[in-house]
Amino acid sequence: MSSQRASDELNRRNNAFDNKLRPTDFDGFVGQPKVRDRLLLAVEAAKARGESLDHVLFSGPPGLGKTTLSYILGEAMGVNVKTTSGPVITKPGDLAGLLTSLEPGDIVFIDEIHRMAKTVEEYLYSAMEDYAIDIMIDQGPNARSVRLELPRFTLVGATTRIGLIAAPLRARFGLVNRLDYYEPETLAEIVRRSAAKLEVDIDDEGALEIARRSRGTPRIANNLLRRVRDYAQVRADNFITGEVAKQSLGLLEIDPHGLDDMDRRILETICVKFGGGPVGLSTIAVSVGEEADTVEDAYEPFLIMEGYLERTPKGRVATPLAYERLGLKNPEPEIGS
Ligand SMILES: Nc1ncnc2c1ncn2[C@@H]1O[C@H](COP(=O)(O)OP(=O)(O)OP(=O)(O)O)[C@@H](O)[C@H]1O
Ligand SMILES: [Mg+2]
Repeated sequence: MSSQRASDELNRRNNAFDNKLRPTDFDGFVGQPKVRDRLLLAVEAAKARGESLDHVLFSGPPGLGKTTLSYILGEAMGVNVKTTSGPVITKPGDLAGLLTSLEPGDIVFIDEIHRMAKTVEEYLYSAMEDYAIDIMIDQGPNARSVRLELPRFTLVGATTRIGLIAAPLRARFGLVNRLDYYEPETLAEIVRRSAAKLEVDIDDEGALEIARRSRGTPRIANNLLRRVRDYAQVRADNFITGEVAKQSLGLLEIDPHGLDDMDRRILETICVKFGGGPVGLSTIAVSVGEEADTVEDAYEPFLIMEGYLERTPKGRVATPLAYERLGLKNPEPEIGS
């Protein structure tokens, strides 16, 4: 199998797994209380008025529930959800085709909306605001613009990079929601619910043990649960206790503090190669062989939240805690500095 095909296959299986454990209504969605309350209120109000829901934007690191919430909104409003993603819509015609096929009230979910072409984005403005889109047809002397009326729809956008959303686009979303990393206790609740769906027994210690190593991320918690379940099935009568979780996660070399391979490589680069920093983002990215965007959006927020890394005007700086976690000696502070 080519590595592309292997990774497609892995993605497909992970998606199937995501879908199986994905909550379908607000009752099943754990945590993020502010976002949840705001959305519930908006849904109730829109339904009471018999209107479509305001446009909604979700931002935040991967695996925190952006896609999940988009489908929950569709379910709660009782409308269809049509899914696409920024890089797929390359021409205004793609957007027009999608929007004209909607029924009133439908949700269009655009994942990775920050990656949409600028030329398309401008058409989206009038679509979101006036529910109409002006498309040029024909070329040369016959070129003319035609106005297509659209049904009242709801745009739900998701992005890991809120900073790349142009101000005029952002301003057209009535509800802008940032998802944050989950606390271990909240993740433990997600793990317990997922375990019930997977029909494996788990106690509170077992759930917490998995939660603590999940990088604040439900998707990772579910993935670890899947691995621990295999272990419990073979070695522990299908019952996940704290001890069982500890043993199996140890066997898999999952870091007790939730750091993954790339987290460690980023910290190692800063601490060892660059003497603790400051060092620029692009230099770090090259050193670890990852794109700067990905380092900035998917890795740094967690490392900053956990107190391993600081962003300064001169670059990234490792904290004493980073040295401690890597088992390195903290460099002596310079005398007189
Ligand atoms: N609040 C939650 N409660 C329960 N399960 C959750 C919650 N948030 C996420 N999950 C689980 O985590 C999985 C990943 O969530 P989701 O696909 O919504 O993340 P995402 O933010 O869209 O990530 P990405 O940026 O990678 O697209 C879901 O399939 C679901 O099982
Ligand atoms: Mg998603």
